[in-house]
Parts: sequence; structure tokens; C-alpha cells
Amino acid sequence: MFQQRTDFSDPVTLSFEGREIMANRGDTLAAALLGCGIFDFRRAVVSNTPRAPFCMIGNCYECLVEVEGKGLVQACLTEVVEGMRVNMGSPRKPVASGNDSADV
Ligand code: FES
Repeated sequence: MFQQRTDFSDPVTLSFEGREIMANRGDTLAAALLGCGIFDFRRAVVSNTPRAPFCMIGNCYECLVEVEGKGLVQACLTEVVEGMRVNMGSPRKPVASGNDSADV
């Protein structure tokens, strides 16, 4: 479904779960992770099943990830930043300001 990205014209480096990944400046975090073959963004609270972005426009909250220093953010609405450290989202933690509740 997705192809691994190799076209980095203005690259930034960030990490997801300790794994170093590359993205282009201006990419959303969701696009960057998917482009690196990362499809497990968080785990469902009840079933512990892997969750990944669905809408890519900020409506479904399936893309919640934890950004160090910011808390939970919607990856599809968050731009990558050089050195950003990202971990799988836990919906039990509060969402960073600017996002709605993450009670999913
Ligand atoms: S993918 Fe739906 S809110 Fe981010």
C-alpha cells in the first residue's frame, strides 16, 4: 500500500520508539512514519490491537502518538521537527493543547 520513501530533498531526522527515521521538512508526522513503513502508531485500550492513521485530516484520532515534551498529538496534524522524539501513543495520557480529548 505504501512505498518506502527515499526522496528527501530537505531532510530532517527524528526517532520513533528509538528508531531513527528521516522525513522532509514540512511533512506531517503521520506521513513521515508511514513513509518509513511504520504502521503501529498506538495500541487500542481494550483489545491492545495496533492502530494506525485512518482519516489523515484530524477527525478520527487513530494516529495519536507521544512526542517528547508535548505529550499526545495527532500525528496527521503535527509537522516533523529536527530531533523530534516520538513514541507510541497511550490514550490514557492527556492530549497536548490544541487537540481535543483522546478518550478513545
Ligand atoms: S488520522 Fe485521523 S485524526 Fe489523524
